[in-house]
Formats: sequence, structure tokens, C-alpha cells
Amino acid sequence: MKRVFPEGFLWGTAISSFQAEMGAGEPSDRTDWWAWVNDETNVSVERVSGDTPLDGPGFWELYDGDLRLAREDLKNNSIRLSVDWGRVFPESTHDVEVDVKRDHWNNVWKVELEEDDVKALDRLADHDAVERYREILKCALNYGLTPMLTLYHWPIPLWLHDPIACRDEMASTDRRGWVSQSTIVEFAKLTAYLSHELGDLVDLYCTVNEPRIVSEHGYLTRRGEFPPGLNDPSLFLICLKHLCIAHGVAYEQVKRWDRHEASPLGPSTVGLVAVLQHYEPADPNNPDDAWMSQFIDYAFNEWNLNAVFHGDYDMNLDQVVEPWEQLPHQVKGCDYIGVNYYTKWRVRHRKTGVDPLMDYEFVPCRDDCTDYGWYIYPEGLRNVLRWAYRRYRRPIYVTENGVADMGDRIRTRYLRSHLDEVYKAISLDGVPVKGYYYWTLMDNFEWSDGYRISFGLYNVDRETKKRTPTKAVQAYREIAEKNSL
Ligand code: BGC
Repeated sequence: MKRVFPEGFLWGTAISSFQAEMGAGEPSDRTDWWAWVNDETNVSVERVSGDTPLDGPGFWELYDGDLRLAREDLKNNSIRLSVDWGRVFPESTHDVEVDVKRDHWNNVWKVELEEDDVKALDRLADHDAVERYREILKCALNYGLTPMLTLYHWPIPLWLHDPIACRDEMASTDRRGWVSQSTIVEFAKLTAYLSHELGDLVDLYCTVNEPRIVSEHGYLTRRGEFPPGLNDPSLFLICLKHLCIAHGVAYEQVKRWDRHEASPLGPSTVGLVAVLQHYEPADPNNPDDAWMSQFIDYAFNEWNLNAVFHGDYDMNLDQVVEPWEQLPHQVKGCDYIGVNYYTKWRVRHRKTGVDPLMDYEFVPCRDDCTDYGWYIYPEGLRNVLRWAYRRYRRPIYVTENGVADMGDRIRTRYLRSHLDEVYKAISLDGVPVKGYYYWTLMDNFEWSDGYRISFGLYNVDRETKKRTPTKAVQAYREIAEKNSL
């Protein structure tokens, strides 16, 4: 049976600035991630791989060829990409004074900018970088690729976050990244400026990519592989909370400053990208595992969406939203949900009696696993799509889905089986899925794991930068071209 997707479905791949841009042309060396992966201590204790983003695929220079591949070889009609904050504002924007309103709990609530503030930001911006982003976006449009622009895909400027100082002694610096609400204010300025400057070329925006991953890998995991590598449940929650507030603040800026229609979508469709995975108890007959699995599902999948959609900021994670945890004024809007789905996790309770956020463990996959040791579990994608739609009632884009597969053994099967679940979610469950973005177009810098991990539809020779198609290219081309599986 032919499985046809809805008319106008967006087929794309997703990339991110820090991971894909470097390798040719001007590097981006003013961000926390740059400092993080180049820090010798981090390399020596294996928080990071020691690989350099300078060996990356070089999209900054080679974007035309990559976008051509996306269009002509893959027959895609969209591309998801991000902007590097440190390139646009290498120097601080703190001195641009804007009107900041705070709520009863002293949380940033509204950031108001005037035309003059945007002009002041323009004086601080790196115009060559902004111009390059404009060229990239124009190039995408010329190829017939609708751009989906992510405003924050992880690196933030060093003037806002010194991850090494935070790692070693948080009190020694006031550059504390997302733990500090001043980062939310600066993010409002960035998003106002970007939507003002790029809005004529973009209609589809992602505010924040995966609040949970940034918070978990920066402030919770034992390996401490993301900046600033701390292990503190209270900071995890503060970071998560601030990223949800940041979504709202950015939402308002884009709505205010982008008035241009670049496509029939209208001036701006703005959503949050949440990573939603399937969680299940390691031993379904063990009540502790069952409880932990449900708890992790709540903390990792649900919490950020409850905050953004309902203003529920359950800061003690007891799963009851007390009146003092209800911040309905922080609900600014979210036009769609971006779902990043990769795998399922089997959750075990470690029962050490410490904070539950420190007491979970994921059981590694043993059989038929990805190179990351992740399970291949396509059914989970349909589950999270159905869950997210029934609970929050918004259109959905699958903003990332892909597999670490250096040997090119499973990518085609992974792609087809996950798309089959997307199709079922649409046709059997009535979920309005509007598009699908495979992660990722070409092999890139996989954060703390560098080049050990290959998610790309095209492999990249690190020396020559030559792109070579994996087997899944043909499969994806046929699907996108026919709009059917
Ligand atoms: C991120 C990507 C990353 C991918 C694979 C997602 O969490 O958004 O930047 O490369 O997963 O790990």
C-alpha cells in the first residue's frame, strides 16, 4: 500500500551552526562551546573527545554545494539550520539598555525593545556574519528550500558564559550562562535583532533547541560533557526553567519584529524544539523502576512543555503544581511543537536514596543498537507524537530524527521505519505532523564526541571536504520526491 503524506509536507534535514559551519572559512571562536572543547582539562578527563570543530564540514564556506545536494540530490523542500550567537554578537550587548519587566518572583517576564534599541544592536553586530547568514538563507530559498531557523542551538558567547570558570568555581564569575537570568535578557535582544534582520527571508522559527539536553548534560550527568559540566540537580532545574522563559521572551520578539511574509506560511510560525524520547521501566514488574521511568518521563519529556504551554513551573518536581509554581503570565505562545526523537530508554532506579534526579540509570542497549549504544525503537516516535498532540494540541514538526551509523548498516532501515511511524501517527492517530527533518545532512562535529559519531546522510572527508552519499540518500530522495513511503 502506498503511504502518501499530506500535501505541502516539508521534507528536510537539520544541521546546526557550531556542528556544521567550521572546517572552511572563518571559524567561530568566541563561544562557550569553543572554550569547552578546546580546554585541556576537559580533554584529559575525557569529558570531550579532543577533536576540533576546525575539522568540520565547512558549511560556512561550502553552503551552496550542501544546499544544492539537499534540493537536487535529496529532493527536499526544506532545511533546518541555526545561527551562531557568538558570530553575530562577538562583543557584549549588555550596554544596550532595554525595558525589562519582572514578575513577583523576580523572573524576567517581558523584555521590550524599541527601534532605537535595534539600531544600537546593529552597531554592535558583526555585519559580515549577518550578511553571510542572509546569503545562506537566500541560497536556500533560491533552491526552493523553506528555511526553518533555530535561534539557539547551544553555543552562547563567552561574554555571557565562561564555562571553565563555572566548572571550577561558579562564584568566581558572573558569566554564568543560562543559570543567570541576564542571559534571557540578552537572548531577547539577539532574537529581536535576528528577526528584524532576517525576517524577510524566514517564516519558520525554532526558539530553543532541546532545553532538557542543555540542562541535563550541562548540570546533571556524571560525565559532565556539556558546558559547564556540573552535577547539581538544582542547577539543572534552574537552567531548564530559564530556557522555558527564554522561549517565551524570544517568541514575543519574533512576533514583534518579523512582519515579512517570505512564504505562504505567513510572517512567523514560532515553536519550541523538545527532545521527546520513549521511557520504559528496565523491569516492568519492579515498582521502583516503574516509578523512576514515569518520573524521568515527567522531568525530561513533560516538564518543559508544561512550562511553555501552561505556565507550570514545578520547581520541586513533586508532580503537583502548587499555586506558587503557577506562572501563567509566562505563557507567551508556541505555534507548533518541534519533536526531536532518537530512541527509547530503559530506566532503572539505583536506589541510593539521594535526589531522584541523581538516582536513575539507563540500561544500555545490547542487541541491534546504534553506534551510540541507543535502541532502535521506531514505535516510540508514534507514541511521543500522539502524546504531545493529544496533550498540547499543536501542529508538530519532527525537527530531528536520525541514527549514529558509521558503517552505513542501518540508516536506511532506521529512516524508513521511523517514517512509517510518522505516517501512522498522521493517518491513524490524526496527529497534524507538518514536516520531517532527518538529523543530519552531512557528518559533523558531534559535540563532546567529535567525529567518532556519524549521523550524516553524506559522509565527509575531513581533509578534502568531499561529500559522499550513504545508502539512505537514495531512499530519502524517493520518499521526498513522491511525498510517500
Ligand atoms: C541535537 C544535535 C545532536 C543530535 C545527536 C540532538 O540532541 O540537537 O545537535 O547532534 O542530537 O546527538
